[in-house]
Amino acid sequence: MSKQDDPLLSHEYDGIHEYDNPTPGWWIWIFAGTAVFSALYFIHYVLGSGTSIEQGYQEDVTVAAALATERALAQGEATEASLLTLMKDPAGVAVGKAKFQTVCAACHKQGEGGIGPNLTDDYWIHGKGTLMDIHQVIRLGVVEKGMAAWEKQMAPDELMKVTAYVGTLRGLHLPGKEPQGEEVESDPE
Ligand code: HEC
Repeated sequence: MSKQDDPLLSHEYDGIHEYDNPTPGWWIWIFAGTAVFSALYFIHYVLGSGTSIEQGYQEDVTVAAALATERALAQGEATEASLLTLMKDPAGVAVGKAKFQTVCAACHKQGEGGIGPNLTDDYWIHGKGTLMDIHQVIRLGVVEKGMAAWEKQMAPDELMKVTAYVGTLRGLHLPGKEPQGEEVESDPE
C-alpha cells in the first residue's frame, strides 16, 4: 500500500491532513513494558522490602559517618565520634586509665577530685562535658588554675585515650569534691 492509499482522517487544518496510521508495534511494546515495570516497581519498593531512596540515603550516611570516624582514628584526629569509638575500646581506655593514674590522679584522684574538680559528676567548669570539651581542656589546660596543657607532655593518641578514659568516668557520681561549674544533662552521648 503506497502512502497515497493510506486512509486519511476527516479533519483538516490549514490544508494539512493526517493519515490514520496505527501506532507502531515497537511503541506499544515499550508502553506496555513501562506499565509492567511500574507494577513490579510498586510491588517491590512500596509493598515489598525494596530499599527506598530515603533508606538508601540513611544507609549511605551511616556508612559515611563510620568511615569518617575510622579515618579520624587512623589519623589520630579527635572528633566526638572518634573519641566515642575509643571510649568503647577497652584496650584504648586501659592505656588512658594507666596514664590518668600516673599523671592526673595527683589532683583528680580516681575521678572524684581533690585539688582538681570532680570529673564524675554532672557539673563542668569548661564546656558541657562532651568528649571534645574534655579533650580541649586536657589539651590546652587551665594553666592559671594549675591544670597543665597536657598536649606539651603527651602524644596526640595518648591524649585521646586519656580523654576516652575520662569519658568513662562521667556520671559515676563518686563522692568527692563538691560540684563546680554548670550542671549539664548527664551523659551527653
Ligand atoms: C596539678 C593538678 C592537676 C593535674 C595533675 C591535672 N589536673 Fe585537671 N584540673 C586541675 C584543676 C585545678 C582544674 C580546674 C581548672 C579551673 O578551675 O578552671 C582541672 C580541670 C580539669 C578538667 C575540666 C573539669 C571541668 O569541670 O571543666 C578536666 C577534664 C581535667 N582537669 C582532666 C585532667 C586530666 C585528664 C589530667 C591528666 C592528664 C589532669 N586533669 C591533670 C588540676 C589538675
